[in-house]
Order: sequence, then structure tokens, then C-alpha cells
Amino acid sequence: MSLVNGNEIFAEARKGHYAVGAFNTNNLEWTRAILGAAQEKNTPVLIQTSMGAAKYMGGYELCLNLVQQTMKSMNITVPVIMHLDHGNYEAAKECIEVGYNSVMFDGHDLPFAENLEKTKEIVKLAHAKGMSVEAEVGSIGGEEDGIIGEGELADVEEAKQIAATGVDYLACGIGNIHGQYPENWKGLNFDRLKELADVISTPLVLHGGSGIPKEQIQKAISMGVAKVNVNTECQMAFAAATRKYIEEGHDQNDIKGYDPRKLLAPGTKAIKDTVESRIEWFGTPAVK
Ligand code: G3H
Ligand code: ZN
Repeated sequence: MSLVNGNEIFAEARKGHYAVGAFNTNNLEWTRAILGAAQEKNTPVLIQTSMGAAKYMGGYELCLNLVQQTMKSMNITVPVIMHLDHGNYEAAKECIEVGYNSVMFDGHDLPFAENLEKTKEIVKLAHAKGMSVEAEVGSIGGEEDGIIGEGELADVEEAKQIAATGVDYLACGIGNIHGQYPENWKGLNFDRLKELADVISTPLVLHGGSGIPKEQIQKAISMGVAKVNVNTECQMAFAAATRKYIEEGHDQNDIKGYDPRKLLAPGTKAIKDTVESRIEWFGTPAVK
């Protein structure tokens, strides 16, 4: 299976009241873990690069090639969507040029009229090439690539206008936060989610998927969320497993325990396990 766009996959997910996971990659290990988990569960998956991660890895073209070549070498047969996460206008245009399957144009920090205008332009460019587009209304709390969002609730009227541009999925702030949730987090705002889902048929996206209790995620999915973004949980799982390996002295006491192929293996497995567990939570059905 080659890379595909997200249009039908996410439209069907919204109709079928399940979600497809969107997982951020950071390097080869992450890429193998995410693709391996999706293959194991026999489900579609969205693999995404933030602007920062793509810069770290050497650019969008390299990231796309990495995913394509890894799919080939691992004999991945499930549908995979290569997506730009939280892209600005320039990054979205570059990823459309380079040949991603899907881009997020995140214009939430722009004046609304400019977000709307630029979203329209990106939709036109992407759809001309058969690619999917995600837009954002109402900022997601927390930090993403140095941008601190305060986590406002999406305005329903604005969300309707952005949805009308023909975006294929829409990220709406409903009290969700990037990174770890604070102790006093109030939880997702289901009233606002209902107001949005009642008037918007576009598949909705839940960002900041790490650390939200399973019941809240599943309730949000039952109400119209079709894409759930997860990054921090994979990072924490990787860090914990790597820490354990080193604290247990494997890097010093095992034969060639310092070899990155050994040292990074427990962390890679921890990412794969995390992705598989989230695929189960999201109820993503197996590919027929
Ligand atoms: O766009 C990516 C995410 O929304 C992931 O958020 O790091 O809190 O899981 P997270
Ligand atoms: Zn996000």
C-alpha cells in the first residue's frame, strides 16, 4: 500500500463513530514504531511531522522519503497518510509542493479573516493535487513548536466558516491542551463539542490527545471527533523505557549494550506499544 490522502478515511471514521490516530514522528525509530503498530493492528494510521521535527530531521522531503522507504522495507500494507502537523502558511505550501498527502494549516494565531483567507488558499492548492487539509479554530492550550496556546474554546460561527472552505478535517479548541495536563485541568468541554458537531459535518480533530482519560476521548469520538493527535505520550514512553535500560546498567554491562540498535530498542518498543494501545482506545477498525 502506498501513501494515501485522508479524505475518505476520516469521513468514514466520523460516520462510523470511531477515530484514526495521528502520531508524530521524530526519527527513524519513531517512524518504524508507528508504522509497525499500525501494521500489527491492521489499521490505517496518520504519521505527522511538526515543523520543528521536520527541521530536526533535515526537511520535509527527507521526512517523506523516510516514511516511504520505511514502509517499503517493512512491507507496510495498511493505508498511511503523511501529514504536516501545525504548519504555518509557508510550511503548508512547501509540503504540498514536496508531495505530502495532507497538511494542517494552523492559522489560529492570525486575525480570523486572515486565517479564513489563507485556509481557502491552502485548500485550493492542496485539493488541486488530491491532498487533504486540516485547519484550526480556537487555540489548543500548551506549547507546540514554541507557540504557546492558551486553550480557548473554538467559536462556533468561526468554525462554521472555516469548515465551509472545504477543509477535510477541523481542529477545534474544546479545552484540550498540548503536553501534560495540569492537576487542575477541567476536562474537555463537551457542551462546546456538541455545539460544533451539531452544525459541522467535517470530521473533527482532537489535539493534545496525550493524558486525556480514555472515557473522555471515547465520548469525544462518539460526538464527532474522527482524528486524535498523540505525541507527548509516545515521547514519555520512549524516555521512561530508555531511562530504565540505562538505570539497570544494560548500556555498560551487556555485550555492546551501548550500541544504539540495542540502546534505543526498549524505547522504540514502548512507542509501538503506546500507539497500539491508543489505536484500541480509538476503536479504529481493521482494514478489510
Ligand atoms: O499536534 C499534535 C498534538 O496535538 C499532540 O499533542 O503532545 O499533547 O499528545 P500531545
Ligand atoms: Zn496539536
